[in-house]
Amino acid sequence: MRISTKSVPLKSARTDLLVSLFVKGETPSVPPAFEPALKIAKSAGDIPSTFKGSCLLYPSGRSMAKRLLLLCSGEAKKLDAERLRRLAGVSANKAIALKAGSLLLHPSARVCAKRSGEDLGLPLAQGLQMGAYRYQAPSKEKPKPLSLKEAGVLCPEKGAPKGLTAAVSRGGKLGAAVCFARDLGNKAGNLLTPRKLAAEAKKLAGGKIRFKAFDEKQMAEKKMGAILAVSQGSREPARMIFLDYNPGNAKKTICVVGKGLTFDAGGISLKPGAGMWDMRYDMCGSAAVLGLFHAIKSGACKPKHRIIGVVPTSENLPGGEAVKPGDIVRACDGTTIEVQNTDAEGRLILCDALAYSKKTFKPDAIVDLATLTGAVIIALGHEVAAAIGNDDKWVHEAISAGESSGDRCWQLPLWDIHREQMKSKFADLKNINQGRAEGGGSISGAAFLSYFVGDTPWVHLDIAGTAWNQKSRGYYSGGATGFGVRLLADLLG
Ligand code: BES
Ligand code: MN
Ligand code: ZN
Repeated sequence: MRISTKSVPLKSARTDLLVSLFVKGETPSVPPAFEPALKIAKSAGDIPSTFKGSCLLYPSGRSMAKRLLLLCSGEAKKLDAERLRRLAGVSANKAIALKAGSLLLHPSARVCAKRSGEDLGLPLAQGLQMGAYRYQAPSKEKPKPLSLKEAGVLCPEKGAPKGLTAAVSRGGKLGAAVCFARDLGNKAGNLLTPRKLAAEAKKLAGGKIRFKAFDEKQMAEKKMGAILAVSQGSREPARMIFLDYNPGNAKKTICVVGKGLTFDAGGISLKPGAGMWDMRYDMCGSAAVLGLFHAIKSGACKPKHRIIGVVPTSENLPGGEAVKPGDIVRACDGTTIEVQNTDAEGRLILCDALAYSKKTFKPDAIVDLATLTGAVIIALGHEVAAAIGNDDKWVHEAISAGESSGDRCWQLPLWDIHREQMKSKFADLKNINQGRAEGGGSISGAAFLSYFVGDTPWVHLDIAGTAWNQKSRGYYSGGATGFGVRLLADLLG
């Protein structure tokens, strides 16, 4: 969807839906044609005064705006970036429900007060773009494009904050990158296989972004025995994808690694049938990495460092050739691993990606995103991801990037005692601690990964709880959320 700013007087704003955003207690400003309706609403006591409270008005006589939504942002002191995003999301949803073709959001003087263009424009544009997202499911019907074609922020006539136009444009692009990741996440396992994911990544190449992918033969040459073990139970071949953004005079290199299980049945340690279909989302870590490169390509994110996206991608199926519980496999750095549970496969494909990246690119820091454990849902639920790492400063940088951009994370510990628990009698490491019974499964997953990054500052984001929603929530329609794209863009841009 096109997103822009308009600077015309309120009464000349031509749109299908004008949204007047105001704070509790403030008299909303409306074009003259809406004054009579506003008066009636007021005398009926219908002017909303709570966060997201709204009331729809129609004009008397000629008007450039077809209808107007009064939208209350609640108490001024509680209005933060997340609330702005959600209010913009409400506006987009309302426009779609009304089948409006265009939407203009008009923030009042008090909404704008003490906010920079960036503080206002970025969350509003993101919320509009993300709120308007709908997955186009494959169907016998011709794809019906969304009626809503353009949305914008109508600059206040007096005192538009500086930099609003640039921020709105950047927020719209960032939102589009998130929606790109959501589209990948929502695709069924047979529609997005490892090879198709590689083809999607390849489309992001060009300019300063280079693409490369290893097939299974090349992975075997690099001795990536862990990812190959996961892949061997499936007919679909695995890939190791690389997207390399090099701005030229970069001082640092950062590797961004994303788990790309296009479907996770659990392997021989088969998952229960109910809900197994959700494991199409097991590539949402990789979608976040590709989303970051989408943002780089569109100019929404301009990293000064060299950024290398690394996506190990595979299926995890219980075929006749599948890896079995108890099998010993060897990762590319020589580490031997006892595969006690074939359903703990994310860490197996990631360990080869991490070890290879560390050795080849010698990064200054690593961040990985993975739908790694069901345990993180028990620990933290669906609003917040876990951040676990070996370097508190880097972990906190990631957490604060998530805080300001809307992808929130919470730190869990990783101590030597956790690392010890991953040692095996039959190999260097085992891929689970004691399975689900032991508890703390998200920490065990991270503890396993930590062996493959050595001393390189590294943060692991377990996004199993935040990568998708069963129902719509805030500015998310149900399905993949694109979690991590905004965090990465904030952290690296
Ligand atoms: N992809 C799953 C994790 C997952 C589960 C994500 C539910 C989202 C919802 C992962 O590969 C997995 O199966 N993990 C196991 C680990 C266990 C065997 C130690 C899990 O969480 O049960
Ligand atoms: Mn699994
Ligand atoms: Zn998995």
